Amino acid sequence: MTAEVAPHSNGAAPDPNDAPGADAIRLTLNGQRYEVAAPVGRTLAELLRNDLGFTGTKVACGEGHCGACTVQVDGRPTLSCITLAHTVDGAEVTTIEGLRDHAMVDAFVRCDALQCGFCTPGQIVSATALVAGNPQPSREEIRHAMAGNICRCGAYPKIEEAILTWRA
Ligand code: FES
Ligand code: FES
Repeated sequence: MTAEVAPHSNGAAPDPNDAPGADAIRLTLNGQRYEVAAPVGRTLAELLRNDLGFTGTKVACGEGHCGACTVQVDGRPTLSCITLAHTVDGAEVTTIEGLRDHAMVDAFVRCDALQCGFCTPGQIVSATALVAGNPQPSREEIRHAMAGNICRCGAYPKIEEAILTWRA
């Protein structure tokens, strides 16, 4: 599959609609505008990882059960493995790459809130969405907001500690 990727504002880029079987998607990703051609049925996770090279977003179950693939779409945690890429046309998407300077990343490191790390990008994406609207969440609020992010290594107590102390 081919995909044309170009900054949205670049008028010299090839028209993605010229790609056979592909429709253009325009999105703002981590603050930069993109225009990408992708076939109908492409998932957002595939678009991010395979077409745009943002491999920080992980895919584990691929069926909407584990939260590893979580990204923010207009600020809301979203499972990119079961989200069709064309549904984010015009949206603002944030991946773990866009959160590299967020204090939550330091909090996860400081609290040693991971083992294998495979779930960590999704955990941090969900956690930053939580604290954006609620900077000092309670344990109950954290557990509720993070319930969709599974950690098979069982790092939950330290993940919770990281979110409780993220501004320390
Ligand atoms: S990889 Fe998307 S929910 Fe598991
Ligand atoms: S740190 Fe291994 S799955 Fe969470």
